[in-house]
Amino acid sequence: MHTFEELSTLFSEKFDIAHFPQEPHTLYEPNNYFLSLGGKRLRPVLCLMANELFGEINQDAWNVACAIELFHNFTLIHDDIMDKAPLRRGKQTVHTRYNESTAILAGDVMMIRAYEYINSIDISLIQRIMHLFNHTAVEVCEGQQLDMDFEQKEPVTFDEYLKMITQKTSVLLAASLQMGGILGGGSLGNLDLLYQAGKKIGLAFQVQDDYLDAFGDPEKFGKQAGGDILANKKTFLLIRALETTTGAQKEELEALLKGNTPDKIARVLKIYRDCGVDDWAQQLKTRFLNEALEHFDDMAVLSKRKLPLKALAQKLVKREQ
Ligand code: IPE
Ligand code: IPE
Ligand code: MG
Ligand code: MG
Ligand code: MG
Repeated sequence: MHTFEELSTLFSEKFDIAHFPQEPHTLYEPNNYFLSLGGKRLRPVLCLMANELFGEINQDAWNVACAIELFHNFTLIHDDIMDKAPLRRGKQTVHTRYNESTAILAGDVMMIRAYEYINSIDISLIQRIMHLFNHTAVEVCEGQQLDMDFEQKEPVTFDEYLKMITQKTSVLLAASLQMGGILGGGSLGNLDLLYQAGKKIGLAFQVQDDYLDAFGDPEKFGKQAGGDILANKKTFLLIRALETTTGAQKEELEALLKGNTPDKIARVLKIYRDCGVDDWAQQLKTRFLNEALEHFDDMAVLSKRKLPLKALAQKLVKREQ
């Protein structure tokens, strides 16, 4: 069995190869640039860890892990266009460094490469994996659209937020785990628990992402500080603040949402702090983490085999990157 760090390194050794031809370099160089910026490689590691629950990691799991990471990177390139984000992984985003049209195509071709990896697995498993992969991809699109719709929508309830982050983020983590399990020959019961656990890890992961977007150290987080505030993203922080502020502070927050004044980020952060969103983030993460751990506990697999996944779930809710 392997830890997150070990699998992340092993995966990178296989993944950091040329995925694209040379020409036209105006299309492929942006992709090589983006992939060379790294990232945590969380989703492929989830796939590999789930696979290892049931025995030695097999070749199909490595291929599907590559497909998942390429797909994830494609969503990031397009997400940065949608979110008008200048920075990612501490470097310029693809559409900022090159241009939007190139970023769209670079993302498209990366997604198509992802499908080639799925197409390379044992033929008896392709249908099942492809179906899950496609179902997940559709949900990510739906979640991304809701994320953008919510910028203009008010109020957005906490339940609507949970549905949106489930789709844009959690289902890919859940599917990564389940695909690893399928390729390892896991039982239907175990596969269902893997998916449920992945969804909960994903919720905690996005809660932490939203928290770090506001309060993280941009040097470590690698994204523009306060980007979600500038875009009026309906994160749990903003939803909570809109629900709990009263009087003059509520009016101030509502006025801040109407434009992008130079002091917007600082003033919204102050309101967030006054509302105690810090505590709330902790409570949410603890709740989702515990639910994920319970799903792992319920799996019919030797306890010691589950340790790397449980340790990873615990680590993610404390991440700063
Ligand atoms: C960013 O994902 C997108 C979200 C779902 C929040 P990661 O934080 O896993 O991004 P990288 O791959 O490590 O850069
Ligand atoms: C990202 O949500 C979800 C997907 C990329 C599908 P965010 O927009 O919060 O991700 P970051 O913060 O840009 O990484
Ligand atoms: Mg974004
Ligand atoms: Mg986004
Ligand atoms: Mg974010």
